[in-house]
This record gives sequence, structure tokens and C-alpha cells, in this order.
Amino acid sequence: MSHSPMNSHCFTRREFLSVSGAAALSLANARPADAATHFVRQTSPALPTTSPFPTNFLWGAATSAYQIEGAAREDGKGLSVWDDFAHKPGKIHDGQTGDVACDFYHRYAEDIAHMRDMGLTAFRFSISWPRVLPDGTGSVNQKGIDFYSRLVDALLSAGIAPVATLFHWDTPLALHHRGGWLSRDMPQWFGDYAAVVARALSDRVTHWLTINEPRSFVGGAYVTGVQAPGEQLARAEYMRAAHITFLAHGRAVQAIRANAHQPAQVGYACDVSPSLPATDSAADIAAARESTFSSPPDHFSGAHWWRENAWWLDPVFLGRYPASALAALGKDAPEILGGDMETIHQPLDFLGANVYGGWLVRAGASGEFEEVHFPAGFPLTAFGWQVTPDALYRAPKWLHERYHMPIFITENGCSSRDWISLDGKVHDPQRIDFTARYLLALARASREGVPLLGYLHWSLLDNFEWQEGYTQRFGLIFVDFPTRRRIPKDSALWYAAIIKSNGASLT
Ligand code: FCB
Repeated sequence: MSHSPMNSHCFTRREFLSVSGAAALSLANARPADAATHFVRQTSPALPTTSPFPTNFLWGAATSAYQIEGAAREDGKGLSVWDDFAHKPGKIHDGQTGDVACDFYHRYAEDIAHMRDMGLTAFRFSISWPRVLPDGTGSVNQKGIDFYSRLVDALLSAGIAPVATLFHWDTPLALHHRGGWLSRDMPQWFGDYAAVVARALSDRVTHWLTINEPRSFVGGAYVTGVQAPGEQLARAEYMRAAHITFLAHGRAVQAIRANAHQPAQVGYACDVSPSLPATDSAADIAAARESTFSSPPDHFSGAHWWRENAWWLDPVFLGRYPASALAALGKDAPEILGGDMETIHQPLDFLGANVYGGWLVRAGASGEFEEVHFPAGFPLTAFGWQVTPDALYRAPKWLHERYHMPIFITENGCSSRDWISLDGKVHDPQRIDFTARYLLALARASREGVPLLGYLHWSLLDNFEWQEGYTQRFGLIFVDFPTRRRIPKDSALWYAAIIKSNGASLT
């Protein structure tokens, strides 16, 4: 497989968005003119001046524990696979780690003051499993619970709804050594952890997410091995890990509902990358929709791992794996024991979608969908990801059509090359333009009747971007890492105005 110079790290979870590998991707004939139009036509939609979003729409920002907290070895916290992996030579850009990260553990009050200034109404954070249960099971670290309890109280006093994720990739190292996500004990361990957290926080937390991005998690951890714990397993093994991840999700939902002190809103934060129609023709739109939920054999290896959607959603929302995926996997399909699909298929309150982009598809002459190259010079974020705002229209629309759930955009954003200007401010016009385009697309979905719960921008703060270390700045708030000083970027001020008008000022 060849790799783009912009995405030199092999087979990352970002591979799907790279501009690389024309030969390896077996693309159909390119139609660059159409693709260019595709970007441009997002810029001038006719919009009403009233808000396109529901009145109770949540406006927020998203983060995760390992990426922001720091305090990796403080107050009784156990180690996670990321604490271990980041210290292994050659794994992370320039040997960087999340040991201190944004130091959110100590600076959360200051960060909440910024959130309040921006008018955020929701904040998504994840709970570090080994901070709460240092060994993953057994004794509870009260200081860990106390931290999240203080955080939740501070958010609520600022009028911000806490949205808590139970697992954003920082598996307790002790459990990894006991088999981790390859062990059928993992769902029970995860359920027990979910029960501890629900008992401690559900008197104040009502919005819950179980697992963040199962596709990226399994892909990075076990397929490409570029993320913790850094393993490259055989296909039957990593598909087993995927099945166990689904079971863990189901057990966590049961545990939250069984232990919640008040009715809980429970969802799942799935990474979704829709195929996008290369033109507005009905045939191309139908081809893109079909492609979005197709499961061809190459979606289950490193090559196109990041394109599969149905495998990661159907079991949770429909109670079954896509038949074509099971056929494609053959003997590598996971073993499904009696009761597994019922455990996985728990009633949920919303579908959380992390949406960064998609790729272009058209209807081929034979009726099959065909991929279309992005033209040379297509807009890219600093990470090298294509800017495809239509993804935030198509994904919610098609997800709602297929799964009939309210949609919560649990992540969307871009990295850019931000620094402190001579005037002491951080100017990030590309983030503003990116977010405006994507929100206009989301507004279109809303106007067409897709029930939307909210939009959480990734991210509140510049933070530790996994194997990329601190090189990719995704924050609305700049972090000067040597001092950990925060500076709200221009985009933070812009977002505050959008929030104030509930999105009406997007026009
Ligand atoms: C998502 C992850 C999140 C962050 C953003 C940029 O896939 O959930 O942790 O890395 O991408």
C-alpha cells in the first residue's frame, strides 16, 4: 500500500481520509470537475434567518480523559494502556506523552470559566477507568470518583450539562494483562465499572455515552497497532475484540439503567464516515447512500477499515450484523453465543455520531457505486483530512433514516496550524470557516426534519492527539503546552455568537 506524503504514518485510523493510494484504492475514473463543484456548492445555501435548530439544542465541546487530564500517576490512579504505550520509544511523535497533557485535572475550574464565557450548554468528557478502578475491577479509588464529582458539580453550577463517556480508549493496563478486549470477561468488568460510575454520578449526570468510536478503537489498537496497546492481530482476533466491545457496550447500558438515580439518556459515540454524492443527481445520491452502508470484504482489513459503517452500528441499533459482512468475514467472523445479540442490542436514547468527513461516490454505468477522486488541491485540514461539509448533512440524515434514532453530533472539528500572533491573539479563520460550513450542512438536516440533540465541537482545548502527540491543534482554546496557558482562539468568540443565536447567525 502506498501512502500519501501528508499521511506518512501507515494505516492509521485516518487513512480513510487521506488523499493517498489511488492505485491501491481501485478507484473509478476521476471526475475532478464534479468533485470541485461538490465543495463549492456548500458555500451558498439559501437559509432562513431564524434558527434552524431545536430550541433545546445542546451546544458544546468534546474531550477525552487521556488527551487532556494529565495527573497520570496522581491520587491513586492506576495505569492505562496509554500510560504504558506512550512511554514506549518510537510510538508517539517526538516521544511525547499524556502525562501532563492540558493539566485539566488541576485546571478544570479555569476551563469551565472559559466554557461559561463561550455560553456552552454541554461538555463532553470521558472518565478514566483506571482513575476510578486502578486495577480495572475491585477496589474503588475514592479520589478518582471525587475528581469527577467535583467536575460535574462545577459544570452544573456554570449551567453546562455534563455528557460523560465511559470509555475513550484508556483501558486499565491491569485488565489488558488479563486478556483485555479479547477476553469474554471484559463485558462484565466494563459493566461493573459502569455501575460504580452510575451510582456515583447519575444523581447529576443524565447524558451518557458508553464507548467512543469502536471502529477507530479496534482499528488503532489491534488492526494497525499504531495506538495503545499497539498490537497487530490476525483478522479473527481483532473481529473478536470488536464483538467483545459491543458486548461491553450492552453490559454498560444495562448497568447504567440499573443503577441510575434518575432516568438516564444513554447513547453510543460511533465514528461515521459517509460516502458523499459527487453530484446532486438522484442516481449519485442513491449510490452514495448505498455505499455508506455497504460492507465489502476490503472493509475488514487495514486498507479500508475506516470506511465501514454498518458493522459498527447495525448490531447496536438493529440487533444483527450485516449479512454481507458476515459472509465477507467467513471463518474470521466472531463467534456469537446465545444471548449475545440481545445483550448488544439494548434500547438507547440517541445515536452519537462523530463525523469528520467522507469521500465521493457516483453511480457507475453498471449501476454499481464508484469512488471518485478528490481533485488536486482539494481543501485539507492541517491533518491532511479533506474538508467535506456535506458529511454533516448526509450522515445525520441517513443515520436517522436507517436507525430511527435522534442524532447527537458527539464530535466534529479540524486541526489547524495555530500559533500566538504578534497581537497576542490566536487567529484561526480556517476553523471558523470549517465549522460554519459543517454547521450549515447540519442545519439543512435539521430543517429536513432530522431530530438533533446537539453538536459537540472537537475539541475544547488543543490536546494530546494520540500518536501525533501535540502536533495537531483541534481546540477552540489554544494551549501553550510549555506553560499550559490558555488563550481562547478567534473561533471561541465566533462559536459563542453562534451559540447565542442558536445557530441563526450562521447565515
Ligand atoms: C476522534 C477521536 C478523538 C480525537 C479526534 C480528532 O476520532 O475520538 O479522540 O482524536 O478524532
